[in-house]
Amino acid sequence: MKIIHSIEELQTIRKNLKGSLGFVPTMGALHDGHLSLIKQSIKDNEITIVSIFVNPTQFLPGEDLDKYPKKIQADSKICELANVDYLFTPEINTMYSKDEILIKAPVLKGFTLEGQNRPGHFDGVLQIVLKLLNLVNPTNVYFGKKDAQQLALIKQMAKNLFLSPNIVDCEIIREKDGLAMSSRNIYLSQEERKQALNISKSLKDAAKLIGSKEYNCARIIKTMRTTMKGMDIEYISIVNRDFQQIQTIELGNTIILLAVKVGTPRLIDNIWI
Ligand code: PAF
Repeated sequence: MKIIHSIEELQTIRKNLKGSLGFVPTMGALHDGHLSLIKQSIKDNEITIVSIFVNPTQFLPGEDLDKYPKKIQADSKICELANVDYLFTPEINTMYSKDEILIKAPVLKGFTLEGQNRPGHFDGVLQIVLKLLNLVNPTNVYFGKKDAQQLALIKQMAKNLFLSPNIVDCEIIREKDGLAMSSRNIYLSQEERKQALNISKSLKDAAKLIGSKEYNCARIIKTMRTTMKGMDIEYISIVNRDFQQIQTIELGNTIILLAVKVGTPRLIDNIWI
C-alpha cells in the first residue's frame, strides 16, 4: 500500500490508473464499519483508494473537532492488511484555502434532523466530498447507511451536479450486542455504553411492532421513547426515503432515525424498513 499526502502525487497516480477504481472516504479512527466499506470496494474494483481527513468544515463550533480520535498508524495498518492500494491523508492546507467557494445543503433534505440540530454540518460534508470526488474520480464510492441523511444528500449532490461516480450504500455494522459501530463509541464510559444499548433496542422494538402490523408512527415513537426512558433523546423521526416526515409506515420506503446524547457523545442510529 502506498501512502499519498499531496494532490500532485494523487493526480499523477490517478492519471495512470486503469480499470475500475473504488474509493472510501473516511475521517479515520477506522472500525469494522469502515472495514466493511473497504472490503466491499476491494471486492467490486481493481484498485481501492481510502482517504483519511478529519474535515474541519463539518464540525460546528464547540463540537469535538480537536478531540476527534486520531489513530493514523493503526488506521494505515488496517488499510494495509485489508489490501488497500492507496491511502490518501492530506493536510488541511492541502484541501482548503482561505476564501473558498461554498456548497450549501439543499433546503428540504438538508435542514431537518441532523441538519437542524447541526446547522452547517452538511454544507461541510458536501464540500469535502465534492472535493475528494473531483480529485479521486472513482468508479464507485462507498458510504454507510448509518449516516442515512448524509448518504441521501451526497446522492442528491451527485444527481444535481451531474457527478459520475456510482454511489454504493453499505449496511450498518453493529457490535455483537447491537450498538452501531462509530468512531465516537470510544468516548463512552462502561456505564454509558450499557445505557447506549437501549438505542439499538428501541429500533429493534420498532421493527418488531412493524412486523406485527403496527404502522402508526406516533405509537411506534412512543414505544421507542419508553425503551430509552431517562435518556437525552435529541430526536426520533420516521421519514420516507426523501426525508419527509410520515404518519404511517410505508413498507420499503421508510427510515426510522434517532440521535441521542449519552454522556458527552452524541450517537445516531437508524433502520430502513
Ligand atoms: O462519514 C464520514 O466519515 C464523513 O462525513 C466523510 C464522508 C468522510 C466526509 O468527511
